[in-house]
Amino acid sequence: MPLVTMRQLLDEAAKGGYGVGAFNVNNMEQIQAIMEAAKETNSPVIIQASRGARQYAQDRYLYHLMLAAAELYPEIPIAMHQDHGNSFETCKSAIELGFTSVMMDGSLKTDGKTPTDFEENVEVTRRVVDFAHERGVTVEGEIGVLGGIEDGHGAGGTGLEHVTDPDQAVEFAERTGVDALAIAIGTSHGAYKFSKKPDGSVLKMDILIEIHKRLPKTHLVMHGSSSVPKDLQAIINQYGGHLKETWGVPVEEIQLGIRNGVRKINVDTDNRLAITGAIRKVFAETPEKFDPRDYMKPARDAMKKLVAERMTQFGQAGHAGDYEQKSVEAMAQGYRDGSLSTQPLVAGR
Ligand code: G3H
Ligand code: 13P
Ligand code: ZN
Repeated sequence: MPLVTMRQLLDEAAKGGYGVGAFNVNNMEQIQAIMEAAKETNSPVIIQASRGARQYAQDRYLYHLMLAAAELYPEIPIAMHQDHGNSFETCKSAIELGFTSVMMDGSLKTDGKTPTDFEENVEVTRRVVDFAHERGVTVEGEIGVLGGIEDGHGAGGTGLEHVTDPDQAVEFAERTGVDALAIAIGTSHGAYKFSKKPDGSVLKMDILIEIHKRLPKTHLVMHGSSSVPKDLQAIINQYGGHLKETWGVPVEEIQLGIRNGVRKINVDTDNRLAITGAIRKVFAETPEKFDPRDYMKPARDAMKKLVAERMTQFGQAGHAGDYEQKSVEAMAQGYRDGSLSTQPLVAGR
């Protein structure tokens, strides 16, 4: 079974009123963890690779691991997505490799931390949309900027400096024709998002709700959506780690987002915490062990458990078999004939 596009997964999620987790991967064990969680919960999946992941694993390894997943789990729709593409060239190379979806993060310059101006973002994103849609590939854009830079993406600060302006979001979606739109509502990448449980003063759910009302056909994306669970922080610290006290995005807030147009939820940090906690535990409790399988297996199991939990909480569980999987060629035809347009009223599109 070939990989499917993210647009199809998100259109189906919108029909069903649920969200789809997009989980980052860098290696075989993370892909295996996601696929086993998807099988257990009967979920469609978005697997995403950052530029760092593509560099770490080498593109072709990642691509063939994804094909192996599609071959081994033909009943599960799988979209392969470029996370935080920083230029037209990054997105183009992902599409040429076989990714079925790309994010053009034109909210930041190619360094991944300096905010761009609006026109620059529109221009580069529009260029990627033209190239991608001709080939049936999905595009996610971003307007507004996330905080934090510990993982190399974000403008720094608390996340409240560059919250998305709803007027700009509407203009951006209309002028670029993106399928999905990442917005900034106060979250950051990484483990250190909030120094207390976030409330309305830091998480701008009202802005998200307004954007959805004005752009009902554009799928909204929440980046920086790890919940940074206390139990995972505790395991790491119990076995020799040093994490400072921190709070992530509560799952109930994500669920509120899902009721208001959020269809893709990006989670990486929680899986990193789950994996690290499991490995630290093996190292601390059985220091005589040195076979990597002795710690990679518990690490993979811990990630699978976390992913299955999120799939259930986001509502994608049970939906893997709801629809026939469409090819990229069929999607390209849809963009050509206008049936996949998100902005039918804009002149010249
Ligand atoms: O958005 C960032 C993801 O967590 C990926 O992080 O660039 O360290 O692979 P990375
Ligand atoms: P977290 O760091 O909250 O997991 O966010 C991941 C993300 O947004 C990847 O693009
Ligand atoms: Zn992100």
